[in-house]
Amino acid sequence: MEVENDIILALDVLNMTEALRIVESVSDYLNTIKIGYPLVLSEGLQSITAIKEEFNCSIIADFKVADIPSTNQKIADVTFEAGTDAIIVHGFVGDDSALACMNSAEKYGKDVFLLTEMSHPGASMFLQQHAEDIAKMGVDLGITNFVGPSTKLDRLEKIRSVIGKDSFLISPGVGTQGGDPKDTLKFADALIVGRSIYLSEDPKKAVEDLIGSIK
Ligand code: XMP
Repeated sequence: MEVENDIILALDVLNMTEALRIVESVSDYLNTIKIGYPLVLSEGLQSITAIKEEFNCSIIADFKVADIPSTNQKIADVTFEAGTDAIIVHGFVGDDSALACMNSAEKYGKDVFLLTEMSHPGASMFLQQHAEDIAKMGVDLGITNFVGPSTKLDRLEKIRSVIGKDSFLISPGVGTQGGDPKDTLKFADALIVGRSIYLSEDPKKAVEDLIGSIK
C-alpha cells in the first residue's frame, strides 16, 4: 500500500457531512483513510463506498475483526464488497480466525492488517504479553501488513524485529495519545492519526504541520 506522506487519517467522526469536509480539506496531502466503527455504525458501510468513490483514496477498515472463522469471513466479505482496500484483524483470536480474513482478502484481491498490540494503557494487561507471538503467527501465515503502537516505542521496535524489515507496519497513537511522529517512523512505515487532525480547527494545517515534523 502506497501511503502518501506516510500518514493515514483515522476518520472517527459520526456523520458523513463532517467526514466529507475533513477528507476534502486534507486530500491534497493524504491518500489513505482509516474508517472504523464510529462512522460505519453511524452512517453505514456505504460511507466507505462513498468516500472511496469521491476521493479515489485507499480505505483501511478498522473493524478489529475478532470472531470465529466463519463469522470473520462474512465480516471481511461484506467489508471488501463495500470497496475497502484492507481490513484490520485481531491476532489474539488465533490463526484460523486470521486465516478466514486472509482467504476473503485473497478472493477480493485486497489486504489484511494484523493487529499485534494496542496503543492504549490497558493493552499492557493482557495483549502485550502475547504481541510478539501474535506477530510471529502473522509471519508464519504469510501476512505482510501489521499494526503496532506508537505509544510504546520499545514494543514497536520488538514487533518490527519479529515481522522483519520488509513487512509493512502502521502505527496509531501519535498526537493525542502521546506518540512522537518522527520517532515512530524509525520503526513504522506509516502513522495513523485521528483526533489531532479531525478535531483541529484547520485539519489541512494540522496535516501540513505533521508533515513538516517528520521531514
Ligand atoms: P487518535 O485520535 O488517537 O486515533 O489519533 C487513533 C486511531 O487508531 C485507532 N487505534 C488503534 N487501531 N490498533 C489499531 O488497530 C491499535 O492499537 C490502536 N490504537 C488506536 C483508534 O481507534 C483510532 O481510530
